[in-house]
Amino acid sequence: MEQTITEKILDDHLVEGELTPGEEIGIEIDQVLTQDTTGTMVWLQFEALEMDEVQTELAAQYCDHQTYQFDFKNTDDHRFLRSAAGTYGAYFSRPGNGICHQVHKENFAAPGKTLLGSDSHTPTPGGLGQLAIGAGGLDIAVAMGGGPYYVEMPEVVNVHLEGELPEWATAKDIALHLLGELTVKGGVGKIFEYTGPGAEKLSIPERTTITNLGTELGATSSIFATDEKTKDWLARQDREEEYVDLQPDDDAEYAETVEVDLSELEPLVAAPSMPDNVAPVSEYEGTDVEQVIVGSCTNGAYEDILPSAKMLEDREVAKQTEMIVAPGSKQASEMLAREGWTAEMMAAGVNFSEATCGACIGIGHVPASDSVSLRTFNRNFEGRSGIEDDSVFLCSPEVATAAAITGEIVDPRDLADELGDLEAPGLEMGTKYGPGMGQDDSDIISPDEAIDDGLVKGPNIGDVPLKDGIDVDGGEALLKMEDNITTDHIIPATADILKFRSNIEKLSEFTLSRVDDTFAERALAADGGVLVAGENYGQGSSREHAALCPMYLGIEAVFAQSFARIHKANLFNFGIVPLAIDEETYERIDQGDDLAIVDDVPAGVRSGQEEFTVSVNGEWEFTADLDASERERDILAAGGKLSWVKQQHADD
Ligand code: F3S
Repeated sequence: MEQTITEKILDDHLVEGELTPGEEIGIEIDQVLTQDTTGTMVWLQFEALEMDEVQTELAAQYCDHQTYQFDFKNTDDHRFLRSAAGTYGAYFSRPGNGICHQVHKENFAAPGKTLLGSDSHTPTPGGLGQLAIGAGGLDIAVAMGGGPYYVEMPEVVNVHLEGELPEWATAKDIALHLLGELTVKGGVGKIFEYTGPGAEKLSIPERTTITNLGTELGATSSIFATDEKTKDWLARQDREEEYVDLQPDDDAEYAETVEVDLSELEPLVAAPSMPDNVAPVSEYEGTDVEQVIVGSCTNGAYEDILPSAKMLEDREVAKQTEMIVAPGSKQASEMLAREGWTAEMMAAGVNFSEATCGACIGIGHVPASDSVSLRTFNRNFEGRSGIEDDSVFLCSPEVATAAAITGEIVDPRDLADELGDLEAPGLEMGTKYGPGMGQDDSDIISPDEAIDDGLVKGPNIGDVPLKDGIDVDGGEALLKMEDNITTDHIIPATADILKFRSNIEKLSEFTLSRVDDTFAERALAADGGVLVAGENYGQGSSREHAALCPMYLGIEAVFAQSFARIHKANLFNFGIVPLAIDEETYERIDQGDDLAIVDDVPAGVRSGQEEFTVSVNGEWEFTADLDASERERDILAAGGKLSWVKQQHADD
């Protein structure tokens, strides 16, 4: 049968099920990655599973989200992660070495391989032909132990790129254009496969910017075919032998095709505070800009920063604006430095950050109150920058740098007309890539180099909470939330909170504090209860703490109009029942209502029951749907995935 690229890779890795959209499939995982905010829990779970060593071809632990060591807690976490990588046989990338997606792309990502990562932007190396999927930490721990990864077979959508980008339009604008057209829900249950003459013209960093932003569409993954550009890029990283040719068959069937004519694109921004709030830059021209940041896992490659450097040649950052460059990896930093660009940008007024996520999650470089910040990142959810009433625009490095030069939002085409000597930096920079840093990189400790002296746990590293079975009968609707509640709303990722990521008892005090700061206290006092939400509940990061902390507080079920994929899996993994309700029911429920589930939930979960009757204050009833595979039902009935896997080990 003629196949898409996705189907070919999945077929090669299939251990259970059939490649029918909507059906659950189990796939073998070749590589896993974790980062510091999700990684501590991954290794604690791996330890709880009583595993001896990593079973996948490769596992890599990065320290990128919280690299600033404000007090001992982050340093303790990093030391624990290094000790876990050494003990169990994973690569360890030191804090400051770069953002997981960028460093993984440079060192390990390989076409045709599967990658599972405990970070929602794991699909980034899809630009290199790797099938990469983001998942919760517990799924990573299980995959690392050799277990398959289960996911609903997505629909494969073809994004056919025609034409060529005009001057000043970039890969970021391709991704923003799609977000504007399809919205943050447009990719749910889908994998986007990019083909066509327009795709072939894009460089690997441009492709990975697009696959990175596929996460904002809600997509399970995004992938490009491989070609000479892929081979050349791998060769520059000293990994040419890892190249494999990957093309869709001529008559491969796609669920849908989206056509984009690149020649019609123009510079775009995502205005505050959603990545799909997309408009041409010209609509916001003249808006004062106090801060510009170029970097992150979306646009932090050497090739992303170079256009900024070229635009700033013989120019300066406007006096009323500050410009920060946060390279995605030390390799990018080093290449810019070796070629003299760092010094030139510094002379132009740019401030360099270490290679870290940092500002992307409000850790450092928090914007001033009531000010506009232009960032080349992938998310601008309200409050994510570290200040509640922020005003963050997402854009390309070119648009960001134009704003840094003028101090206001400006279409770079207009700026070029005005200045007369500002050339579009273009795609081919004519510069040599630096040496492949590969596995000899001194900031990556290989399993062979690691000191295996056992797990080192500081006082801030707690135990993994375990739940034995489920005892669900409903309860008070402790909180009613609107559409698009993100995992940032559920567990904020700011520095003061994230430092408790390995200490669930403490971290759970901050659960949903951005929606209602009395929530955790009320949940504990009520000894459990349920949550109510609108559409797309749990969108955003893969943070399993967003399910783990509610579980710790006794939340039994979430009633929502719809759930984001990774978060729904995390709810199953921590024994919380995700129940779907319709809009009318959502509208009728009030916070504080008593939602008593009339049916026997544990029995219904086991027997395959799909509809549950719920009585509201004993006055009216509605039906809620449980959409779960047999395996997900087993996990729920066991009280979560950890208990389920432990039971299976005991049965073996
Ligand atoms: Fe880090 Fe932000 Fe990417 S937190 S992984 S730079 S989305």
